[in-house]
Amino acid sequence: MTTTAMRSHRCGDLRTEHAGQRVRLCGWVARRREHGEALAFVDLRDTSGVVQCVLNDGVDVRGEWVVQIEGTVRLRPEGTANPDLATGAVEVADCSVEVLNRAEPPPFPVDDRTDSDESIRLRYRYVDLRRPRLQSNLRRRAAVFAAMRAAMVRQGFVEIETPLLWTPTPEGAREFAVPSRLHRGDFYVLPQSPQIAKQLLMVAGFDRYFQIARCLRDEDLRADRQFEFTQLDVEMSFASADDVQAAVTEAVVDATEAATGERPAMVERLTWQQAMDRFGTDKPDLRFALELVDLTPLFAGTEVRAFAAPCVRALTVPGGASFGRNRLDGLVERAKTLGAKGLAWFKVNADEDGGEAKRLDSPLDKFLSDEERAGLLQRSGAAVGDLLLVVADEWRTACTVLGALRLELGRMPVGEGPRRFCWVTEFPMFEGLDEQGHPVAAHHPFTMPHPDDLPRLRSDPLAVRSQAYDLVLNGWELGSGSVRIHREDIQRQVFDALGITSEEAEARFGFLLSAFRYGAPPHAGFAVGVDRLVAILCGEENIREVIAFPKTQSGTDLMTGAPSALAPGALRELGLRTVPRD
Ligand code: AMO
Repeated sequence: MTTTAMRSHRCGDLRTEHAGQRVRLCGWVARRREHGEALAFVDLRDTSGVVQCVLNDGVDVRGEWVVQIEGTVRLRPEGTANPDLATGAVEVADCSVEVLNRAEPPPFPVDDRTDSDESIRLRYRYVDLRRPRLQSNLRRRAAVFAAMRAAMVRQGFVEIETPLLWTPTPEGAREFAVPSRLHRGDFYVLPQSPQIAKQLLMVAGFDRYFQIARCLRDEDLRADRQFEFTQLDVEMSFASADDVQAAVTEAVVDATEAATGERPAMVERLTWQQAMDRFGTDKPDLRFALELVDLTPLFAGTEVRAFAAPCVRALTVPGGASFGRNRLDGLVERAKTLGAKGLAWFKVNADEDGGEAKRLDSPLDKFLSDEERAGLLQRSGAAVGDLLLVVADEWRTACTVLGALRLELGRMPVGEGPRRFCWVTEFPMFEGLDEQGHPVAAHHPFTMPHPDDLPRLRSDPLAVRSQAYDLVLNGWELGSGSVRIHREDIQRQVFDALGITSEEAEARFGFLLSAFRYGAPPHAGFAVGVDRLVAILCGEENIREVIAFPKTQSGTDLMTGAPSALAPGALRELGLRTVPRD
């Protein structure tokens, strides 16, 4: 499969069993070293790796030139084998060389040791992509796609493409607009996801749809966000949230195994409430324990003013009793920037008399009652040498502040430790109130409320749970989905709660509401952010490293120069005039 008209083998595939064979290789000159005896060693690189070729030193080949080398594989002389290289036991000798193309010296060394400036790497991305790390990342990405597609097809899902030239949809992200030449002054919008299109496919009777879909969102870029990204997008009819989660789990687990060779263990489940209570976040990193503990009942009638709050929560930091004053002050400051009024700390030390007894060292210790002191130790399970961090505040603040500290204190690099997948279910329907006092949808407005909470939509919207769920891996939100609203009466109630009038709904997504009048089946779905999954599987902190041609943090493409001005003629044709930049 690797033989072509121009080559008999790939460089990285040669082993001792090829000794004696005449081979023809093609690739790039990775390195050239002059050797005595009128010889030069050239490392030839193709996508499979490198192999050492022995040339006459008169042959003019230089770094990154493209060459074809024909020669005989032989064992390297005694003592010169390189155990760090897959092909390190052999070399190719008696070579004839044909230069297929010369090359300018590369803008940076093409190896994984390079710490070249990222802007130079992105400007010459085609050279950057030759590096083994990026070659391997993109191959893993392809393995993930292949495994996902196979898993979906095996489960009876039909792959259907949906339009890129689309219309605005109420999903929350800012969209990219495309001017229309034939309808001057009008715009298409690039889809932030195929959300509505896939729901229409359910109405159309495709009861298991999937797509490896490009999505576009004009949002601020971060390590886990690009303008353009890819989802494994899924929708099912006559199916429950559990059915969707099972189908997605299978695809993600298969993809993980295909990319890493290891099948991840159990996929865990938490409700949103449990995730917040125990880990202080809706995307818990389960690779390390450090769970939050509820101390609210213990301090219910406390005299300690700092702890008189609706919620008191603690985090035990193993070994943290050794933290110095600066480190502790730093944690207090950090908690305040995260939104807490303060952070109390207690060092758990051994009592002076040497026995089992523990002592709390803290400026607050003298205010605690004996019962509180004992309860603090008992409920937290803290051992001698640990540090207790306590936040007393509103429930959400107490949890999220300690959750953020937990993450900072336990932080593990992306590629380390086990892969802990987790479904987080029963997200709240709304995430707060807007200026007019209307609740703000936490997911898109087609998400079905929890059936038990329907009566509370009007009276207590912030307490309404939704049937939305996320898939989380090692602290990253990998994907999200929900059971959708398929009944007009419930949809109207949700729009009502959101303050969307019927006229507005009709104007913004009338085509969907109209479709729902023609026999919409109950349906549910999900979308996995594939770039994020691949980044974690490759141990990369930034999804840029698993995307062939990514944008910079400021949204530019340094290689092509995009975005760039259009020629005046093109603007005229589109009926556009630009205003000068500030
Ligand atoms: P959501 O908006 O949560 O849901 O997106 C699903 C997943 O897509 C990934 N993702 C991104 N990845 C890279 N760059 C971005 N800018 C970016 N934005 C999102 C994340 C995220 O979890 N239509 C719904 C899904 C559904 O309900 O079926 C949706 O798009 O991994």
